[in-house]
Amino acid sequence: MHIVTSPIALRELVTQWHKQGEHIGLTPTMGALHDGHLALIKALEGKASRKIVTIFVNPTQFNNAEDFRLYPRTHETDIFLLQQTGYVDAVYIPHEKDMYPQGFSTSVSVAYLDTMLCGAYRPGHFEGVATIVTKLLLQSSADIATFGEKDYQQLCLIRRLVKDLNIPVEILPVPTQREADGLALSSRNRRLTPEQRCQAAQLPAALTVYIKELRTGQTVHSTLAACRTTLENAGFVVHYLELRKEETLEIAEKAEPHTRLFVAASLGNIRLIDNRPLF
Ligand code: PAF
Repeated sequence: MHIVTSPIALRELVTQWHKQGEHIGLTPTMGALHDGHLALIKALEGKASRKIVTIFVNPTQFNNAEDFRLYPRTHETDIFLLQQTGYVDAVYIPHEKDMYPQGFSTSVSVAYLDTMLCGAYRPGHFEGVATIVTKLLLQSSADIATFGEKDYQQLCLIRRLVKDLNIPVEILPVPTQREADGLALSSRNRRLTPEQRCQAAQLPAALTVYIKELRTGQTVHSTLAACRTTLENAGFVVHYLELRKEETLEIAEKAEPHTRLFVAASLGNIRLIDNRPLF
């Protein structure tokens, strides 16, 4: 497995691969790898002949300095884990000075999609994501890249920017990976105290219960209100709980196919997000 740390070295590697007719797959991550990331990489099996995983804790997507400081950084373990898989060809761990050279003043923003849901609570977050993902896609010349449905808004935003900027890459969505009790895998979960970890399972459980209610014809307004109360009683501070259309992320007035329930809620200072399709 190649360990690459500069954009120039990455460009040399991928140019050589493309000359050899290889199809390059990319899985961008911020490290602290877990089974959710491994599923993103595995999804490239049979679709890419060379697989690159990137590890970069991107400062511009953290709207909170403390969150950036506390974000788990486990590069050595991550590299070991990737090596163990036996199917990753290169890991790209760029330096901040190369990703954001002195005087950096260009950014990518995806209007509308970056102001709703998480965007409304994390100003600048999606601009940071859009900018770094654009850079990683361009630097790697990837033919295909995987992104998880857990960050569904991020997935929609990336699809949009790839289309708008004519970046020649296929975006492959990967279903959310979950713990046995339903909690969506996230690097942030390791910051939950044992008590918070127990509480956290009530988030996916509430989604399951209230999605069933929506399917049986309960009104969206009353069902979401009941779900919010359930979560608050379980100790969550609910940031948003919304039914939206999968394609456009517009608010959905009715429970119908191609809609998703989206939630963000905090336990202490840990913010959890989740989403589920209604049908
Ligand atoms: O989903 C993530 O881990 C990050 O937002 C990403 C896509 C790697 C960009 O930093």
